[in-house]
Amino acid sequence: MQIFLDSTDTKLIAELAETGLVDGVTTNPTLIAKSGRPMLEVIAEICDLVPGPISAEVAAIKADAMIAEGEKLAGIAPNVVVKVPLTRDGLIATGHFNRQGIKTNVTLCFSAVQALLAAKAGATYISPFIGRLDDQGADGMGLITDIRAIYDNYGFDTEILAASIRTTGHVKEAALSGADCATLPANVFGELFKHPLTDKGLEQFLKDWAGTGQSIL
Ligand code: G3P
Repeated sequence: MQIFLDSTDTKLIAELAETGLVDGVTTNPTLIAKSGRPMLEVIAEICDLVPGPISAEVAAIKADAMIAEGEKLAGIAPNVVVKVPLTRDGLIATGHFNRQGIKTNVTLCFSAVQALLAAKAGATYISPFIGRLDDQGADGMGLITDIRAIYDNYGFDTEILAASIRTTGHVKEAALSGADCATLPANVFGELFKHPLTDKGLEQFLKDWAGTGQSIL
């Protein structure tokens, strides 16, 4: 499963990319607002930091305007993926981008039939929002399972990008459910490395090693 960061914090992205485990980055208008910086500048910087797919979201709601914005965003760097909302106009724009060879990430997906339409429109990625469904008492991860089954039934190659991930448990379940990618806030990415038994075991190993008085180098 590919791991993307859901962030516009370029300092943090640069730090985490050093692990070699960051396959891409997703952004949205809320995250751009949080950065307090001009969108085009932030996206260009992220595209330089991470060579994988970088999602940049349109702000228009009409298809023609989404297309104009998306074409401008796609011109920033070859690894830009144009993110569009899962609306009627968004899917018209997705079809256009698909025909132009521009990659898309269809976002704000909350149902399996929405995901079916996005795949039919030629979306590169579909972003089901797990955490926001769970917040409503719905089964976020069940949506990933449903979309996986539908895409496999018909051989759609749209990639399932599990979004709105809140916990390491979400990451595990997304992987078990067959999501192709998951986009994580930086704190969840950091938590993936950790286990208390790893810390405890390492502490003991280091103590025992020190007792030998040896040195490898
Ligand atoms: O970028 C889309 C998504 O990951 C947003 O997550 O936590 O705002 O529901 P969240």
